[in-house]
Amino acid sequence: MSQSYETVLLDRRDRVAVIMINRPEKRNALNIQTRAEGAAILDELRADDSVRVVIITGAGDKAFIAGADIAEFADRTAISQREIMLERGLFNAVDTFPKPIIAMVNGYCLGGGCEVALACDIRVASETASFGQPEINLGIIPGGGGTQRLPRLVGEGKAMEMILTGEIIDAQTAFNLGLVNHVVPADQLEIKTMEIANRIAEKSPIALRLAKEAIKLAARSNLDEGLRREVDLFALCFSSADKEEGVKAFLEKRKPEFKGK
Ligand code: COA
Repeated sequence: MSQSYETVLLDRRDRVAVIMINRPEKRNALNIQTRAEGAAILDELRADDSVRVVIITGAGDKAFIAGADIAEFADRTAISQREIMLERGLFNAVDTFPKPIIAMVNGYCLGGGCEVALACDIRVASETASFGQPEINLGIIPGGGGTQRLPRLVGEGKAMEMILTGEIIDAQTAFNLGLVNHVVPADQLEIKTMEIANRIAEKSPIALRLAKEAIKLAARSNLDEGLRREVDLFALCFSSADKEEGVKAFLEKRKPEFKGK
């Protein structure tokens, strides 16, 4: 049974859960409540074994997420802003989410919205989506991981240009930079994203979790340490019933039925 949330919708589609940021009249800008509810939903889904893959998207056809709610910045002091951002918030909840999480980007993906997408594992965009880190125009800088995750994904030079100019780029340019995995016509966005999600949802949840952990280490450790941890995580797969099932199914020439055990 799901808790109720005011600014975020949750739609369960078999093994895939779709989280929709639901403030279309504010272009799905993230206020304190939205960030807290998004993080709470992720905690709920983290503990739910029936959910294998999560998709994050924005309500309406204009925005994925147009960034932090700028109205909340007006009266904020440096100390209170710092405290809010150091709390375990949405960016951290997405980044540390153990199951595969896909950003389905249906429009403006700006500032904190781009940072949510960057914290996801895979990004699928509609042709009408646009991306940017326009914080510089407000006299501030990205604070939800943009200065760290963007250069890791697209390289320092391109990240510098996006963050220093605040320029908004279209989906095709984002694809060319490696910022998004796929660009599809708007009416194909959900189909393409669900296709990827369903394909992943068939795999062993244990192997998915360990694969994510290993891949995330690539940007956070040196090569020797990463390779060493990869071997440990690889070996850990051998303790699962899913590994027995996967190997047995291959040898019996049938499709595996992974239980997440
Ligand atoms: N924070 C707070 N409110 C926002 C917002 C944000 N990040 N982005 C949009 N909104 C609000 C607008 O203030 C407006 O509210 P109103 O109807 O009460 O006046 C409403 O959403 C619609 O926005 P509008 O600008 O009229 O829509 P648009 O489709 O013409 O333009 C954007 C959309 C996203 C290009 C534009 O709203 C924008 O530049 N937003 C700010 C993006 C940004 O700087 N993000 C980084 C924040 S750190």
